[in-house]
Amino acid sequence: MATSITAGASELRDITKMERIGAHSHIRGLGLDDRLEPRDNSQGMVGQAKARKAAGMILKMVQEGRIAGRAMLFAGPPSTGKTAIALGMAQTLGSDVPFTMIAASEVFSLSMSKTEALTQALRRSIGVRIKEETEIIEGEVVEIQIDRSLTGATKTGKLTIKTTDMETIYDLGTKMIDALSKEKVLAGDVIAIDKTSGKISKLGRSFARSRDYDAMGADTKFVQCPEGEIQKRKEVVHTVSLHEIDVINSRTQGFLALFAGDTGEIKPELRAQINTKVQEWREEGKAEIIPGVLFIDEVHMLDIECFSFLNRALENDLSPLVVMASNRGMARIRGTKFRSPHGLPVDLLDRVLIVSTKPYTEEDIQQIIHIRCQEEDVTLTQDATTVLTRMAMDTTLRYALNLISCAQVLARKRKAEQVDVEDLRRGYTYFMDEKRSVKWLKDQQGSLMFEEIGGEDDVMDQS
Ligand SMILES: Nc1ncnc2c1ncn2[C@@H]1O[C@H](COP(=O)(O)OP(=O)(O)OP(=O)(O)O)[C@@H](O)[C@H]1O
Ligand SMILES: [Mg+2]
Repeated sequence: MATSITAGASELRDITKMERIGAHSHIRGLGLDDRLEPRDNSQGMVGQAKARKAAGMILKMVQEGRIAGRAMLFAGPPSTGKTAIALGMAQTLGSDVPFTMIAASEVFSLSMSKTEALTQALRRSIGVRIKEETEIIEGEVVEIQIDRSLTGATKTGKLTIKTTDMETIYDLGTKMIDALSKEKVLAGDVIAIDKTSGKISKLGRSFARSRDYDAMGADTKFVQCPEGEIQKRKEVVHTVSLHEIDVINSRTQGFLALFAGDTGEIKPELRAQINTKVQEWREEGKAEIIPGVLFIDEVHMLDIECFSFLNRALENDLSPLVVMASNRGMARIRGTKFRSPHGLPVDLLDRVLIVSTKPYTEEDIQQIIHIRCQEEDVTLTQDATTVLTRMAMDTTLRYALNLISCAQVLARKRKAEQVDVEDLRRGYTYFMDEKRSVKWLKDQQGSLMFEEIGGEDDVMDQS
């Protein structure tokens, strides 16, 4: 059974990574220089120098593959850039190193147990770089000739392929003919055929054909006609995550589940077999483990069972770097009656490198506002910038950033190009920040439903 484990990489190669847009879309990295010193304003990052530097140091260790089973925690007040720095880390890592981001509350999903959800997240964050040598046929199609039998049931044909140095004719069977017509391969296409799997991939159209305008879409890619031999041995390297290998090899799922996102629970025995197989591949030099990063945002939302599971998981040698973020001070550990710093049990805190984030200075805030305005394509007048910075100091940075787009709508309504103080002022009256909202609730003196339940942190109780 164990021998049948595959990495299914040929199916996986096409999955593209999704990019988040929104609150953090201006963050393009950590903004550090080669010596890991934070630049003042770079890659969308401003201020918070110590935390950025710490993040950069940890990443360095991850990239050197020296760090497994470690954890770090970003602790600090709301909107001090914890999530932003984690996303900056993700962008610095490069496409080969897996980075998984979850919000702790996602673990409490209905379709699988908490520990299964955590295990999947941990295994998504471990990459396996697999080397394979395959024989391929690569060249420009000169001609495809197909002969159908009288009944049309069997097809035979010939495929002529050339490189700049040679030309060869291959006989085609029904299966290859179907594959060629499915890929819509025409004369003039440059194609590669994997000899073991028979998979055909179109690499583009030959430059020599760039003047024929028929059968060409706007996104047609032109490539040079390949040189040298038509049959080549090629080493292909691809990276998949342990979780992807799990899903592909789980009989009830199949790789389509990866696209649907509906992967269900995976049996522990299968995971054990996969671990052994991957270990074998490593010993044979066919695979390499790339420990990545698992980021758990709002980690105080996990409960005591999850925390003890994490404690154990961190000791596993196939464990990624776990980065967590929390904005709680002394808070109750979910599922218990005990309070603890950041809402995390002390035994977990003991294994964690803690990095604190601090409120921003006025100057930093002004720069962040400036960056966000560029990102959202909004122009503020000089006065408006000063006022918005002031607002961010009095309320929160996030409130001020949210106000930018609202104010722009208001400015457009009066057909102005630039957002002025007046637009901000009106936005400020339409939308309350947290402080004013609390005051308003107090003024309502209990006319809203469900106001009070015992102690303050019972609100978080789930059971
Ligand atoms: N150093 C920074 N440089 C540029 N933008 C930043 C920086 N820090 C925060 N921001 C931006 O400010 C906003 C709030 O920051 P973020 O969401 O990271 O806060 P947080 O610490 O995760 O808060 P919470 O505890 O509420 O989750 C985001 O839009 C973020 O992109
Ligand atoms: Mg956050």
